Amino acid sequence: MTADELRSKYIAFFVSKGHTQIQGKSLIPDNDPTVLFTTAGMHPLVPYLLGQDHPAGKRLVDYQKCIRTGDIDAVGDPSHLTFFEMLGNWSLGDYFKEGAITMSFEFLTSPQWLGLPVEKLGVTVFTGDDTVERDEESARVWKSLGIPENRIAYLPREDNWWGPAGTTGPCGPDSEMFYYVGDKPCGPDCKPGCSCGKWLEIWNDVFMQYNKTAEGAYEPLARKCVDTGMGIERTVTVLNGQKSVYDTEIFAPIRAAVEKAAGYSYGSDEEKDRSVRIICDHVRSSVFILGDPRGVSPSNLGAGYVLRRLIRRAVRHGRKLGIDGKVLSPIAQVIIEKFRGPYPELEENRAFVMEELDNEESKFMETLQKGEHEFEKLLPNLLKDPRKIMSGRLAFKLYDTYGFPIELTEELAREQGMTVNRPEFDESFKKHQELSRAGSGQAFKGGLVDQGEIATRYHTATHLLHQALRTVLGDHVAQKGSNITADRMRFDFSHGAPLTAEELKRVEEIVNGQIKNDLPVSMEIMSLDEAKDSGAIALFGEKYESQVKVYTMGEGENFFSKEVCGGPHVEHTGLLGKFIIQKEQSSSAGVRRIRAVLE
Ligand code: ALA
Repeated sequence: MTADELRSKYIAFFVSKGHTQIQGKSLIPDNDPTVLFTTAGMHPLVPYLLGQDHPAGKRLVDYQKCIRTGDIDAVGDPSHLTFFEMLGNWSLGDYFKEGAITMSFEFLTSPQWLGLPVEKLGVTVFTGDDTVERDEESARVWKSLGIPENRIAYLPREDNWWGPAGTTGPCGPDSEMFYYVGDKPCGPDCKPGCSCGKWLEIWNDVFMQYNKTAEGAYEPLARKCVDTGMGIERTVTVLNGQKSVYDTEIFAPIRAAVEKAAGYSYGSDEEKDRSVRIICDHVRSSVFILGDPRGVSPSNLGAGYVLRRLIRRAVRHGRKLGIDGKVLSPIAQVIIEKFRGPYPELEENRAFVMEELDNEESKFMETLQKGEHEFEKLLPNLLKDPRKIMSGRLAFKLYDTYGFPIELTEELAREQGMTVNRPEFDESFKKHQELSRAGSGQAFKGGLVDQGEIATRYHTATHLLHQALRTVLGDHVAQKGSNITADRMRFDFSHGAPLTAEELKRVEEIVNGQIKNDLPVSMEIMSLDEAKDSGAIALFGEKYESQVKVYTMGEGENFFSKEVCGGPHVEHTGLLGKFIIQKEQSSSAGVRRIRAVLE
């Protein structure tokens, strides 16, 4: 079973069960100040899980590109990935436990679909606690389908509760499906979920019942929903009886490209294998981040910083494998070939991906050279130390000032018969991280998607600002980006010159005028063509569903603003307060940026 087959079968199965296939969304979440990347298929659907109607209906299915970068440095073992694809189906107030489980079972076991033997399957369900009862209902459905009692494990919240980790948003108990790859249980307690490594998780049905608030309370959702997730890479590995995601056909051409560049045969040296896996994973993630319709460039901030770390780590491991010259772009070409079918945006952005990879790689090579040069300058003094230990603070300085990775400092030190005081380095590093975390804390406040009142007000203000800019500057103004936190909004738009004080004043006056006019905000669902015909602004280059939501501010023909948008918005503009522009500056060539607050 290939990834392409699994993706098609999954979609076809759920379409045959009355689901509408929706388009997976960008890897960079829209208007979401709290996370850097889309981390699960449910992520773009949060507003709908929380109660909004989805234009495509109550039953949805898709495949979604995801990135989880909890700990980039852990990637390298045979199972971890930073980028992965997730298949998912959703019920927005339609079927619940029985429907979800019955369909999961049919897809897994029916010869027409995956045809897995029932005796290889096991499941877990939530054991219950003070907030939510034991999930006898799911267990009963599994039993009625033929899963025996001894392969249903009741597990606590750590295992069988799903909600975006440590944050706010929709959540609830879940039931996970496992495939058994052993021949006999590891002991009397060996059940699905056992850590013996023989039970491999392939799918998760989440029964969304609550919204976890910023205060930590669990509010019942307006309607119960189902959110499911099946990781493609892992499932393909399991279905083909393979041991590692890196052994599957998904990675075969990528791995081959790395092996060829390095003149190395995978499987002969564990340390080198690890470098091969790191390059495969990191280059794939980098290609998807750069090739996204909202692609970002490497930088020292947010998603751009994660991208930079991925690229640099891949380059470093390329060097370790002795790859000369450009390490990344030839591998990236192979990755685009492999994934451009399901992700045509990679082909569209091929030139940008290659250019950015090459640029970042040469910048990093310069960094490495500088670092090596600095190290050589330090050397005479270092060699005077009879203990042959380089201070961790000095190593940290090389890292902090020149971006010189600690592993390389250690390598250079080793070549001189020295070691680096690693605990001291780690301590300086930790302090530095705490400081930068405190600085970016704001961006992570408030949960997965801040559907809170303040964010909603800012979303609405964004539409007013967009239209006011078009009124003052002309219709060439188009939104290029937007970012909202609980404290401010930021809006990027196309315009060739700085705004004059007069223009800024007029924009501010128009927005405040429309707030004072207390325009009603209404929403309609229509096709994208109808939306455009009705005068709605849609973002260029954005992918839309066939049916979209159009938000109008103002009444009848004389509306002030009309935009295709997922929402949420306030019901009338009078709720916004006072709109104040704090700053106007350049964002990039031909793009201006406005920072504004509501008071
Ligand atoms: N959202 C659930 C997960 O990621 C399905 O496992």
